[in-house]
Amino acid sequence: MENNVENSKVELEVEEDGQVVTPWEVSAKEGGKIDYDKLIDKFGCQRIDSSLIDRFERLTGRPAHVFLRRGVFFAHRDLSEILDAYEKGEKFYLYTGRGPSSEALHLGHLVPFMFTKYLQDAFKVPLVIQLTDDEKCMWKNLSVEESIRLARENAKDIIACGFDASRTFIFTDFNYVGGTFFQNMIRIAKCVTLNKVFGIFGFNNEDHIGKIFFPTTEAAPAFSSSFPHLFSGRDNIRCLIPCAIDQDPYFRMARDVAPRIGYQKPALIESSFFPALQGEAGKMSGSDPNSAINVTDSAKDIKNKVNRYAFSGGQDSVENHRKYGANLEVDIPVKYLGFFLEEDAELEHIKTEYAAGRLLTGEVKKRLIEVLTEMVERHQRARAAVSDEMVDAFMAVRPLPHMFD
Ligand code: TRP
Repeated sequence: MENNVENSKVELEVEEDGQVVTPWEVSAKEGGKIDYDKLIDKFGCQRIDSSLIDRFERLTGRPAHVFLRRGVFFAHRDLSEILDAYEKGEKFYLYTGRGPSSEALHLGHLVPFMFTKYLQDAFKVPLVIQLTDDEKCMWKNLSVEESIRLARENAKDIIACGFDASRTFIFTDFNYVGGTFFQNMIRIAKCVTLNKVFGIFGFNNEDHIGKIFFPTTEAAPAFSSSFPHLFSGRDNIRCLIPCAIDQDPYFRMARDVAPRIGYQKPALIESSFFPALQGEAGKMSGSDPNSAINVTDSAKDIKNKVNRYAFSGGQDSVENHRKYGANLEVDIPVKYLGFFLEEDAELEHIKTEYAAGRLLTGEVKKRLIEVLTEMVERHQRARAAVSDEMVDAFMAVRPLPHMFD
């Protein structure tokens, strides 16, 4: 039955609702917000409910991550099955990735990595991180050399998120594709027709053949036999993929193919998009420097960007604000605090006071600036401590004997 669901939900192109979500484009209906309920329905995944979050806490013996408690990671496929298996002592591994399209990451780029780190610590499992330098070379029109350089730069930011080298393998496609990884790509490719890849990804006849073949490259890491140095002898171990929901098409394809090539379907835990400073209509764009806080921004940049560009749900005059309060639904400072302010009680307090008009936008922004500055400066210190040797160590093709300890 599930196969049918996955097969019937492959159409991704613009539909009547005017909302587009593909791995390359995220845009809501005319300036509106992304309708995540519709997306869940269209993609055929499930919502994460409170009982699933409770199970996370029970099984890991630690509080659920803020991103889970506050619904940033809101959708899944087969998460219960992974937790069932884990409860019985069965092993799994994590897989996530990044397309290295820019030098500086923005805060939205950190979200999946912060969450993946929590998952790695909570479950004590190995993690593979794919840097798709091939992908960005094809989609962003970067040269092969520049894509390779960016992948290495981005690896430093990823390592700075605190991953454990004894459980983490980072690889770039240009370096690693080959061996059983490539064999899996070909197994996958033989199961996916041109028609299907057009339907799932919205490609057309004008797209070059590199793009059409690429989905096999992002799907292959979902199968453990692609990493013989890690998993040889236990070739069909389960995979859990934390990612933003725009990556779902790749893994819908992988899940569809899995049983046909004798593998387990990967499970997914999926996030919503991190909103741009200007408002929630899409995800942040690397090409508009004022739409995002970058991890390279100075304290001064952060202050300026938040004060000048963060869309406010406050009223146009203090008088009106005191009278009507802020509209939290559209307020970006409150949304950002929802991602990065850890204390639930403080967040609730800010929301209540702001909605009642007792707190002003400027005061909320001030708190946000503190939180972001602290976080960005911490990241910058961690990144500065990542040496070339460390990058080589994370990328070395090596066994990880303690990855499940
Ligand atoms: N395509 C993703 C991007 O552009 C990178 C990526 C590769 C990825 N493999 C992944 C993301 C697995 C999440 C999970 O950023």
